[in-house]
Amino acid sequence: MNQMIWHDVDDFIVSRLLTRDRQMDAVLAANRAASLPAIDVSAAQGKFLNLLVRMSGARLVLEIGTLGGYSTLWMARALPKGGRLVSLEYDALHATVARENIEAAGFSDLVEVRIGRAIDSLAQLHAEGLYPFDLIFIDADKPSNAAYLDWALRLSRPGAVVIVDNVIRNGAITDPLSGDRSVQGSRDAFELLGSNPRFAATALQTVGSKGYDGFAIAIVEG
Ligand code: SAH
Ligand code: DHB
Ligand code: MG
Repeated sequence: MNQMIWHDVDDFIVSRLLTRDRQMDAVLAANRAASLPAIDVSAAQGKFLNLLVRMSGARLVLEIGTLGGYSTLWMARALPKGGRLVSLEYDALHATVARENIEAAGFSDLVEVRIGRAIDSLAQLHAEGLYPFDLIFIDADKPSNAAYLDWALRLSRPGAVVIVDNVIRNGAITDPLSGDRSVQGSRDAFELLGSNPRFAATALQTVGSKGYDGFAIAIVEG
């Protein structure tokens, strides 16, 4: 088992289960043209997020970490009429590319990209009363994962779905001595998800075109 076969199987999954998707292809092309890092979720993962939004019936979705809006659009597509998505992004270039992609895809009315440190934008959403969110996708700076989960409790309703990306990191997550701050941040996220009774959580290891990583997934208890 190696990266080559994971990649081939991802291609197989996409070829059998996803339809040809010029809109999503255009987003990735725009992201690469603008030299954004190629760390968007994979297509299969994007569809997974899309299905989670539909399965949960989410109407108000929060994303932390927009990049070029690829995962954003996968989730926005799943929203019902009247649904809305807010995505938080620190980097002004990333946010600009994302807004262009969202506009080109025809989702500007549903999606708002807010520029700034997510920790500040989360406080701002709280101050504005723009919550409770039904589904929250956390995919930004990993050292802040536990802080984002704390905010997720404040900004969500009982029954809300919370997903955290990149929590396995090629297996490094099990290393308590890891010098990687992202790994330590995700270890903190596991501690919080496992110890706070307001979360019921598990995690899924994933392999595929993005290598070996995984998602944590949780529901917010009443
Ligand atoms: N969700 C995207 C990928 C996000 S990559 C997708 O799958 O398509 C992580 C993003 O988080 C980057 O764009 C990075 O600029 C942003 N980010 C990093 N630190 C941040 C912070 N403190 N606040 C908000 N966004 C941040
Ligand atoms: C990185 C960040 C991500 O959100 C991701 O999905 C993959 C990699 C990174 O910062 O390396
Ligand atoms: Mg990610």
